Amino acid sequence: MRFTLNGKRAEVRAHPMARLLDVLREICQLTGTKEGCGEGECGACTVLVDGLPVNSCLVPFAQVDGARVVTIEGLNGKHPLQHMFVEHGGAQCGICTPGMIMAAVALGPKPSLEEMQDGLAGNLCRCTGYSAIYRSIRAATKAKKVVRTFRSARSAGSGRKKR
Ligand code: FES
Ligand code: FES
Repeated sequence: MRFTLNGKRAEVRAHPMARLLDVLREICQLTGTKEGCGEGECGACTVLVDGLPVNSCLVPFAQVDGARVVTIEGLNGKHPLQHMFVEHGGAQCGICTPGMIMAAVALGPKPSLEEMQDGLAGNLCRCTGYSAIYRSIRAATKAKKVVRTFRSARSAGSGRKKR
């Protein structure tokens, strides 16, 4: 299967019905994408496919043929959201945070609170709550270069897909 992974062309052999999550973690060695429920309920495995956030545990690998896939590694640790999640306490645990950030990238540079709530509705935190997460996203909207960075992350693959 040929596709674009984090901005680079990739050619990966895997069963067409393999879960995208497994292909990313086990074949591509991109373990930043996490598995929570494995059933499409928690959003921990969120990646962007052609700009839209999807639950990679539900996506058959065949569906990304020719597509643009972006994982948390594709943000290179430089995205304003990554910095602000650390600075403002949004990075609460290692399981939900990568998916939260990828879903937040897809919100665009200046989401309202309602858009944040709606956009992260499929990303569950069952332990801590969302206040620090929303605060982190809001802080990222004020970061310099935020618009350009959001655009480049989204052009590597972004938008919003129903899960
Ligand atoms: Fe994919 Fe929970 S692991 S939605
Ligand atoms: Fe990660 Fe709650 S599930 S902080």
